[in-house]
Parts: sequence; C-alpha cells; structure tokens
Amino acid sequence: MQVIHTIRQLREVIQAFKQVGKKIAFVPTMGNLHEGHLQLVSMAQTKAEIVVCSIFVNPLQFGEGEDFDKYPKTLKDDTRQLQQLGCDIVFAPSVEEMYPGSSTAGKAGATQSQIVVPGISDTLEGASRPGHFTGVATVVGKLFNMVQPDLAVFGEKDYQQLLVIKRFVNELCFPVGILSYPIVREENGLAMSSRNGYLSSEQKQQASALYRTLQAMAQKLQSGSRNYQQLEQETVEQLQKSGFKPDYIQIRNTDLSKPTLDSKQLVILAAAWLGKTRLIDNLQLSL
Ligand code: PAF
Repeated sequence: MQVIHTIRQLREVIQAFKQVGKKIAFVPTMGNLHEGHLQLVSMAQTKAEIVVCSIFVNPLQFGEGEDFDKYPKTLKDDTRQLQQLGCDIVFAPSVEEMYPGSSTAGKAGATQSQIVVPGISDTLEGASRPGHFTGVATVVGKLFNMVQPDLAVFGEKDYQQLLVIKRFVNELCFPVGILSYPIVREENGLAMSSRNGYLSSEQKQQASALYRTLQAMAQKLQSGSRNYQQLEQETVEQLQKSGFKPDYIQIRNTDLSKPTLDSKQLVILAAAWLGKTRLIDNLQLSL
C-alpha cells in the first residue's frame, strides 16, 4: 500500500494505473477509521481493481466553534487498518496541500472557487450548520479531480451529504459513479461514527436510545400513523426524556422533500446533542 501526501505524486501513480486500464474506486474519509469506513473500503474492493482511500480532516466543512481542532487525527492507526484490508493507496494531504495559502489566509486558504448546491444543502444539517455542505461538496469535488476515480463509495449515515454529492456530480457532469453503503451500527444500535469517541462509556449506552426512538417512529408509520408533525414532536419529547437535546427530528421523502399522506418511500432524519457531542442518524422505510 502506498501512502501519498502530495497531489503531484498521486497524479503520477493514478496515471500509471489508468494507462494499464485499471478501474479505480475511491473512499473519501476524514480518518479515525471505524468498522463503517472499513466496510466502505471492502465494498470498493469488490467494484474496482484499485482502491484509493483519502484521509483529510477538511477545515472548510467545519463551522465556527465546531470540533475541527479536536477532531481525532490517527493517521498511523488508520493506515495500519487499511494496509491489513489490502487497500492500494492512502491519500493523506496536508491542509496546505489541499488549500494553498491556508496558513496565512484562513482555513480555506486562497480558495475562492467553491461548489455550492443550493436548496438541498440548506435544510436539516445545512440549516443547523450553514456552509457545511459547500465545504463538503468543494472538498469532494477537488478530491475527485485529484483521484479521478471511476466510482466512489459513501456511507448512508450522512444521508443528506450523499444526496448533495449525487446532485453536484450529476449536474456538473463529474464522470464518477456514486455508490452508497448502509449504516454500520454497534451491537446496541448506535450508528458508528468517529464522533462516538467523544462519548463516555455510559453515554454510549445512553446514545443507543436515538436509534431505538427512530425504530419506534418507523413502527408507528408502518402501522398507519400519518400525522408526521405529531410523531416528530412526540419523538423530540421522548429524546429529551432520555437525556438528549434534539436539534431536529424530521420525516421526509427520500429526496428530502416534505412527505404527503400518499408518500411511500420515507426517511426519518435525526440530529441530537448528548452532552457536548452532536449525533446524527437516519432510518429509511417503505410503506
Ligand atoms: O463523510 C465524511 O467523512 C466527509 O464529509 C467527507 C465526505 C470525507 C468530506 O470531507
């Protein structure tokens, strides 16, 4: 496995693989890898001969006061896990490499060009974290131009992120197939996330209530309940009783539009604080 830190070297290596006709799959991550990430890499390995995994904590997608500075950076451990899995290339650029001038000109450096996906980026996560999806779309677009993959694999835990990426890839004609992989959960149902590392072991148990609450909500929908607003409100109250500070609990169509009484394909999306940790989760269901 090659660990590459510069765009120039990455381009050389990728070009050599492309010249001999190798198909390239890409798994972008912010590192601190867990089983969820590893399953994305395993899926990528079934789809292409060469798998590239990027590890880059992208300052552009963190807002003021968010956890950019404390986001865990565990490159050594991450590369060890990827090596064991048989990943081919790890691309781990510095902030300066991705955003030249960032040490003098702020977190995005001299970057003025950004990928903005209005509408879908402004609701739910985007409403709570303004600018977040512009940061995500911009770095993913840049990474796609660097890695030039045939396909890329994303986790469904970041459901809205996946839709934002699919949207710009389609509208801006990036020649990259976007695949997704279902949420990987702990035994107690907690969706795996690098941010779970911020939770104490007691909070990890408590956090599993988020998924149980989504399951209970899904059950009510399956049994015919269609008062979406009331269901959302009840769930907010339940989560508050379980010690969470809910940010949003929303039932949406799978394209994130508001559901009607006839909606058949739904997704319940949730974000809630547990202590100082913000957790997100979602559950897709067909009626
Ligand atoms: O999902 C993530 O880990 C990040 O948002 C991504 C896609 C790697 C972009 O920084």
